Amino acid sequence: MGGAPISYSKTQIWLHWSIAALILVQFVAHDGMEHVWRALRRGQEAAASDWPLAYMHVVLGLAVLVLAAWRLWLRAMRGVPPVSGMEHPALRLLARATHLVIYALIFIVPLSGAAAWFLQVPGAGLVHVVGKNALLYLVLLHVVGALVQHFVLKSNVLRQMLAFRQA
Ligand code: HEM
Ligand code: HEM
Repeated sequence: MGGAPISYSKTQIWLHWSIAALILVQFVAHDGMEHVWRALRRGQEAAASDWPLAYMHVVLGLAVLVLAAWRLWLRAMRGVPPVSGMEHPALRLLARATHLVIYALIFIVPLSGAAAWFLQVPGAGLVHVVGKNALLYLVLLHVVGALVQHFVLKSNVLRQMLAFRQA
């Protein structure tokens, strides 16, 4: 009770890396979904070989949504350790803002994808594509930040996200 925890819990760490791995797969293996989507929009038949990857995109994407909700709930219930105190306040603000927008995007991207796929909501596909681009750039910034923390500022922020230490 009282105050922020000093480290991420095992579940929080597991969720962080599972979501990261799923998102990586979504970026690497989106061809099937794109082909199927294009064919459907043109009223054509999609190639049978593209369907498994399209379904995989839907299932893994929805998994991101579920894990993100779980993660946000844990964050609200348990909290997260404060960002390392070593860096400049402007950098800390940047880290916080990046986390916030990444959080928003791990909901917006799968939700807009689902709105396009299941409900054919006009414009949802566009939101999805713009959102996944924003997510990509922010995650790159996030990774650069983590590496700078680790190798330049020599803080334990990355170690905390890699290994659970008993509080
Ligand atoms: C975090 C989860 C997700 C990520 C990172 C992601 C990522 C991507 C990527 C990289 C593309 C290729 C877009 C392009 O370059 O044109 C794409 C397309 C697409 N995704 Fe997802 N996706 C996710 C979740 C979902 C979900 C849950 C669904 C549906 C239930 C979905 C449906 C679609 C559709 C319909 C397209 C084709 C849209 C278009 O090209 O206009 N996605 N997604
Ligand atoms: C798609 C991939 C990723 C996503 C969506 C993501 C998302 C996030 C989010 C939202 C947080 C804030 C933690 C919280 O408050 O719950 C976080 C923390 C963190 N992430 Fe990632 N991350 C990704 C990939 C990575 C990678 C590849 C690295 C390492 C190179 C990394 C290192 C870290 C570290 C060290 C923290 C802790 C930051 C701190 O405590 O101030 N992340 N990540």
